[in-house]
Amino acid sequence: MNKKIIVFLQCISFSLVSLWGASPDPVHSQNGMVVSATDLASEAGIYILKKGGNAVDAAVATAFALAVTYPQAGNIGGGGFMVAHLRDGTDFSLDFREMAPSAAFRDMYLDTAGNVAQGRSLYTRLAVGVPGSVDGLLKVLKDYGSQNLSRKEILAPAMHLAKKGFIISDHFAHILNYFHDYFMRSPAAAEIFVRSDGKPWQAGDKLVQKDLYKTLKHIAKYGRDGFYSGSVADMVADEMSSNGGLITKDDLAKYESKYRDPVRGTFDSLEVVSMGPPSSGGTLLIQMLNMLEEVPLDSLGWNSSEYIHYLTEVERRAYADRAEHMGDPDFWDVPLYVLTSKRYAMDRFATISPDTATPSSQVFAGKPSQYEGRETTHLSVVDKEGNAVSVTTTLNTSFGCGYVVPGAGFFLNNEMDDFAAKPGVPNVYGLVGNEANAVQPGKRPLSSMTPTIVLKNSYPWLVVGTPGGSTIITSVMQVILNCAVYHMNVEQAVCAPRIHSQWLPDVIMTEPFSVSKDVETKLESMGHKLVPYTWEYIGQVNAIRIKKDGLYGGADIRGENAADGY
Ligand code: DON
Repeated sequence: MNKKIIVFLQCISFSLVSLWGASPDPVHSQNGMVVSATDLASEAGIYILKKGGNAVDAAVATAFALAVTYPQAGNIGGGGFMVAHLRDGTDFSLDFREMAPSAAFRDMYLDTAGNVAQGRSLYTRLAVGVPGSVDGLLKVLKDYGSQNLSRKEILAPAMHLAKKGFIISDHFAHILNYFHDYFMRSPAAAEIFVRSDGKPWQAGDKLVQKDLYKTLKHIAKYGRDGFYSGSVADMVADEMSSNGGLITKDDLAKYESKYRDPVRGTFDSLEVVSMGPPSSGGTLLIQMLNMLEEVPLDSLGWNSSEYIHYLTEVERRAYADRAEHMGDPDFWDVPLYVLTSKRYAMDRFATISPDTATPSSQVFAGKPSQYEGRETTHLSVVDKEGNAVSVTTTLNTSFGCGYVVPGAGFFLNNEMDDFAAKPGVPNVYGLVGNEANAVQPGKRPLSSMTPTIVLKNSYPWLVVGTPGGSTIITSVMQVILNCAVYHMNVEQAVCAPRIHSQWLPDVIMTEPFSVSKDVETKLESMGHKLVPYTWEYIGQVNAIRIKKDGLYGGADIRGENAADGY
């Protein structure tokens, strides 16, 4: 299986429609808005809001519904992050990232010659980290849900969709057919995701997931224990021990999601609240926005050569820091305050030439230790209006490692590939890492997921996040810039073509229609190298813009994302 294709399919739409310029208006509503990867999952969230649930209840219901309607990513066999800003002024972030099993070890992805064993961290049972989604979603429900609805009521839409099935779209049928061979590697996956008559799926077919229904019912009844101990845990442990995987019942029982302090920054008059380590997302987002504050962006045209040059230069510096300084904070001392400080950003920015690309070979990680203690944390003031929640979950690449737990009906993740298997050797997203992100038992692999809430005058202004591996951080940043600097409406902002760079490889990756010929020529004359993005489309951003006259939902046209409001 071509690993590039696998990621591609998680991230983008098949339809090569003329996306740009024809983006529809955002969905407008007054009382509530959910934007997610499928219309059925968004509807599940709205249903919960209408029943008296709050944004946390709705986010949890939507996430569980995605486990059914978006099995390629929104799955209980994986993990994720949540950032929330509540009406009473609380904001918090929850890390439910997968964790390396206790038997994991540093060189587990190297062959006897010391080279990275192709595919081991992606397509085998060794690729699986201990799943975190169920623990995280139930924890946040208990701590911050409205308590107006029971766990069973919150899971009801997901259970219904799994038990009764749902009608699949042409787009989803294409995805399932494309992954036919991938599913055939796992009899349990084939039984569910290959049509029983062996024929290709078609729009209008119904996908029923009986085993997943039983698992969800178990979770509804027993809570966390319905997944991390008892029969579901037995099934996961059996799947592992019979196929060379490492996760044991003890690993499952010990898994714990963790509240972490969100990372905070400012960009002009906006405050950014986002996910800190073990995600690199919020930290890099704030570092890059800090550097971009030095640039008069509003005098540069959108996606002009100057704009793309500055974005690329700040991106390569931030991603160089990511590779050297970032990992699970329980195992590695991440110099967070420095990396997100204005002072550090100014010094990093000072190395950027306005008209010449700096080759990545001449860009190194900064030396945050020189700054330690010279910067204070950022403060955010939160008011009492509106709850906002931003959640990103994942299995890593599409359908994770491709193995469904027999009897339990869900795919297992391949998040272990987000560790640095060997210093300097790129992972599936081309990201390199070092000691900070080496495999260790009980450690969480460094993520790029960037669930973010932007505040203005302490009120939520934009809720934003996306899939897309290493491109997540730069996609979130471009959407913020599209809204804040270029005054696009939220639908235009999420649909607009994007560019991306990440230090290594030393290129600017472009989406179709993102860069005109003359801009390309100008950037090349500055020393940049442009290449089409490997998987053609970058991310699928789902965002909500909060304005005086209501809520505006922006669902990315790259996929089947849907905004639903009431
Ligand atoms: O945590 C991360 O950064 C990745 N595992 C996210 C994977 C992803 O976004 C795949 N989507 N296209």
